[in-house]
Amino acid sequence: ENKIITLAIETSCDETACAVLENGRKILANEVYTQIEIHKTFGGVVPEVASRNHLEKIAESVDRALNQSGKKMSEIDHIAVTYGPGLVGALLVGLSYAKALAYTLEIPIVAVNHIEGHIAANYIAHQTLEPPFLCLIVSGGHTHLVKVNGYTEFEVIGRTRDDAAGEAFDKVSRTLGLGYPGGPIVDKLAKKGNPYAIDFPKAMMGHDTLDFSFSGLKSAVLNYLNKCRMKGDSIVVEDVCASFQHAVVETLKGKVLQAMEQTGCHKIVLAGGVAANSALRHALGSLETIDIYYPPLDLCTDNAAMIGCAGYYKFLKGDISGLDVNAVPNLKI
Ligand code: KG4
Ligand code: ZN
Repeated sequence: ENKIITLAIETSCDETACAVLENGRKILANEVYTQIEIHKTFGGVVPEVASRNHLEKIAESVDRALNQSGKKMSEIDHIAVTYGPGLVGALLVGLSYAKALAYTLEIPIVAVNHIEGHIAANYIAHQTLEPPFLCLIVSGGHTHLVKVNGYTEFEVIGRTRDDAAGEAFDKVSRTLGLGYPGGPIVDKLAKKGNPYAIDFPKAMMGHDTLDFSFSGLKSAVLNYLNKCRMKGDSIVVEDVCASFQHAVVETLKGKVLQAMEQTGCHKIVLAGGVAANSALRHALGSLETIDIYYPPLDLCTDNAAMIGCAGYYKFLKGDISGLDVNAVPNLKI
């Protein structure tokens, strides 16, 4: 049979990732080298450091993925690579490597939008999932509500006007001195705290829009902590985490329900790093009116398999890029 083999590369932020897929949805290899330990010492991702580490790891990642897949270079049908959004220096490492490979192997290169990749992670996790559906993409850099009308057709119906949901988790964590990335730490501590201890604002932005805003909530948490410190009141970190997380989850849930009402679509797909959040999964998963899908933890956070899947559908459509394709740091979906 004619099986299409995709080699995918992702270097948009702090993960050097390479994957090999068969017919877009079957993972043959999925290598992720994370730089988290390196960036932890700085309290966040340092772009220059990220680029240098991608450069050091990219060749090894590709070799390992190919080895693990059992495929030879000559069996690859096309390359899928992230060209944005992300850190420009980081993107350029993966993009340049992908171009060199495509040129040498004389195969097409498909440039993939990282956000569309996050959505596609669900096609790997749920083999029979098909569009249309509503997707809530919540990551460190993005908070979007997207109507996915087809594998390569997207309609943004809501987005954050300031901070991304994951960014809020990271900033709150940093202020509490809990480290980076904040999401998993806050999620864990919140399990031991009271979500109703502190009444943080749930910025709903009114009923006439599906947009989000998280900067007010972030400021409210910082103000609360400053006030406690000034008055000498003790801070119950677990309660702060639980109450903050509760406000985020309620906001996201509110907008998802509003989007369902507006579109009549009840099939909801979660994507991005914050889709790993246990409270968010629980809050949406316990609603009977929702038909919910989300990827396993390792496919929620950055990886190349999701880029390969999104790239496969663009390849089927004939959406091929030239070797002059450039990185687009602020690429929109
Ligand atoms: O999708 P991702 O790996 O990278 C971006 O494209 O941004 O998302 C990373 C974000 C970080 O902000 C991290 O704190 C957050 O996802 N995150 C979580 C959880 N796991 C990761 N946020 C809340 N709860 C979690 N369990
Ligand atoms: Zn991401």
